[in-house]
Amino acid sequence: MQLTWYLAASAVIATTQASPHPAYQQQVLDTLVSPAPPSLASPNNEELRPEDVISKDPLLSFHRDLIKIESISGNEHAISNFLADFLREQNFTVVKQAVPPVKAKDVETDESYDEETDPNPRSNIYAYPNGHPDKPSVFLTSHIDTVPPFIPYSVRQPDTSSQHTDDLIIAGRGSVDAKASVAAQIFAALETLAANPSASLGLLFVVGEEIGGDGMKTFSRSTLNTEGTYHTVIFGEPTEAALVSGHKGMVGFEVYAHGKAAHSGYPWLGKSAVSAILPALTRRRRAPSSPKYGQTTLNVGVVRAGVATNVVPSEAWADVSVRLAAGTPEEARAIIREAVANVTADVEAEVVVDFSHHLEAYEPQDLDTDVPGFDVIPVNYGTDVPALQVKEGVKRYLYGPGTIFVAHGDNEALTVGELKDAVVGYKKLIAAALERETAGLV
Ligand SMILES: *[C@@H]1O[C@H](CO)[C@@H](O)[C@H](O)[C@H]1NC(C)=O
Ligand SMILES: *[C@@H]1O[C@H](CO)[C@@H](O)[C@H](O)[C@H]1NC(C)=O
Repeated sequence: MQLTWYLAASAVIATTQASPHPAYQQQVLDTLVSPAPPSLASPNNEELRPEDVISKDPLLSFHRDLIKIESISGNEHAISNFLADFLREQNFTVVKQAVPPVKAKDVETDESYDEETDPNPRSNIYAYPNGHPDKPSVFLTSHIDTVPPFIPYSVRQPDTSSQHTDDLIIAGRGSVDAKASVAAQIFAALETLAANPSASLGLLFVVGEEIGGDGMKTFSRSTLNTEGTYHTVIFGEPTEAALVSGHKGMVGFEVYAHGKAAHSGYPWLGKSAVSAILPALTRRRRAPSSPKYGQTTLNVGVVRAGVATNVVPSEAWADVSVRLAAGTPEEARAIIREAVANVTADVEAEVVVDFSHHLEAYEPQDLDTDVPGFDVIPVNYGTDVPALQVKEGVKRYLYGPGTIFVAHGDNEALTVGELKDAVVGYKKLIAAALERETAGLV
């Protein structure tokens, strides 16, 4: 069944039996599997290798090819080319939107950047079906970068005795976050278009999600977005196939303490920056909570202080991130300033709270969940959702295969069944959006 619609949606592949299977056309060169894979219903009960199950299936082999291309944030050149070629072959018009290189350690980008002279430009991929207006009304979006390190693709039998191909486990960096969403969104769009060629669908795959969202921010500021006429955005991230009702907000800060060094045998001659900063980091704060998101949580991620065990430390520094359950970043900053001032009022060293390196802050993000047939959950992690400015009334959904609990781990993996189910889930979300349009509700 999948083969039928895949062929129907493809401009390049002639619909004759003689044409090569599209799955092979999409493979990267060094992985071409030569003979045709054995049939599932092999009469001599010959065991079907997991690799062959993948090769036979266009969705699974496309997903594999995405994972095989290393695309750690900053290095998305090869994967965006691959994706652009694939989508062109599927009869899409592809717009490559250049995103400046990642600077040093943060996401601040170089305004004078010239993509013409960059041999490996990073680009967002924006695509819509050939012959359609360039402003789709529903678009699906996910990200093509991954966290480090690269982990090679693999597929294996489950630990259980199951022989069902849906239980095969696909592993590798990006297998869940978010190449599963990318693959499932594309195939959901192709299936939808095969059944309804005039469906007004767009696809957006961005770089840099894992490092603060520079790809989505570039798109958000561009005319592709500001002049966009979409009424629905479907974000793809691992949500265990549930619709996400929202996620917490975020605000970050640094705390510095400046004291005075002295010999540790005569600590009264110095002012300890460590003693000064500790209360600010360990005291429980009056943090806002909400019924939907629970507690605001705080993570002291990095602490640096001192020079030697026999020296009273004159400098201490900590970098802290806060996941907001309620309120705005401004309100949170006011509470943080006041709380630090309260607990450091009588310490000797000078303590300063600094928000200037954490300008990227946002309040809790509420998302739409009005499509029946899904579990609904809130999540704790951040996404590109706040990086995309949308017009009033635009529906935003967040949905995708796989679980966040393995997403950045060395055990990142999902099952074949989860990946396939996500195609169905995305199609359901697309159909609901198109129905609202038909009913004049947008
Ligand atoms: C590709 O798009 C063009 C323009 O809309 C359309 O006429 C053609 O039928 C499409 N081809 C396939 C194979 O879908
Ligand atoms: C700071 O101290 C004042 C006075 O004790 C108290 O009312 C206030 O709630 C404290 N602020 C924070 C954020 O802890």
